[in-house]
Amino acid sequence: MVKTKNAIGIFDSGYGGLTVFRAIKDLLPQYDYLYLGDNARAPYGNRSFDVVYKYTLECVEWFFRQGCPLVILACNTASAKALRTIQQKDLVDRYPEKRVLGVIRPTAEIIGTFSQSGVIGILGTMGTISSHSYEIEIEHFAPEIKVVQHACPMWVPLIENGEYHGREMDAFIESDLKQLFRQDPGIDTILLACTHYPLIADKIERHLPAGVRLISQGAIVANSLKDYLNRHPEIESQLSANGETQFCTTDDAAFFMSRGREFFGEYIEAMKVHL
Ligand code: DGL
Repeated sequence: MVKTKNAIGIFDSGYGGLTVFRAIKDLLPQYDYLYLGDNARAPYGNRSFDVVYKYTLECVEWFFRQGCPLVILACNTASAKALRTIQQKDLVDRYPEKRVLGVIRPTAEIIGTFSQSGVIGILGTMGTISSHSYEIEIEHFAPEIKVVQHACPMWVPLIENGEYHGREMDAFIESDLKQLFRQDPGIDTILLACTHYPLIADKIERHLPAGVRLISQGAIVANSLKDYLNRHPEIESQLSANGETQFCTTDDAAFFMSRGREFFGEYIEAMKVHL
């Protein structure tokens, strides 16, 4: 039985959202949080638009039933493929008092300011890259920036299965970075546009040319949420603030606890839930 009421919901297909949640909780420790990883159906990255939308909506509705007034899709794939329809159709038609936010827009708003050369590389899942969401959003906020994208379909399965310490991961990183830079060697900033990737940031950095900066989204999304809550007192005032967190997964809880610790950086208690 989920105990947290009026918590901020944090969603990911699996463990990756924990890297964003870490930054949110560090910046805004006062609120209550409910995390859900849809581990039973992860990864989402290679799935079709319809399937990602269906799965994400089912999870969002689960959060609503637990009393969350606000849900953050801490997953680029879900933000790219499901957020717009949820915001423009489901919330408007059925949940007008609820809010769902994603990670792409807050990141696109600011990413242009990190680059000197004006060329930014985006690494993400097949779903995020093929949606062109980052190109479209960055064009809106920083039209002078050239965006170069590359999908890394093998990274999440390796990370999600704990297989990222070995040489196979390095081989994929090396080959994917080569393909990214081949499109434009002027890239000076790379965005990890998948919430799983911060776990292998050290490994990626070892393969980068000198002077290229690697950006993870956690702090960006956390600052943007803080700003959103300041601008929306009608949502902020609904949130409970006892500093409590509950972690849930659609798959095995013990497994989530052991793997989730690597992503969140501390011991976590989790429970299995049915959607
Ligand atoms: N962590 C998710 C993201 O940011 C994707 C992982 C998946 O493929 O499920 O895109």
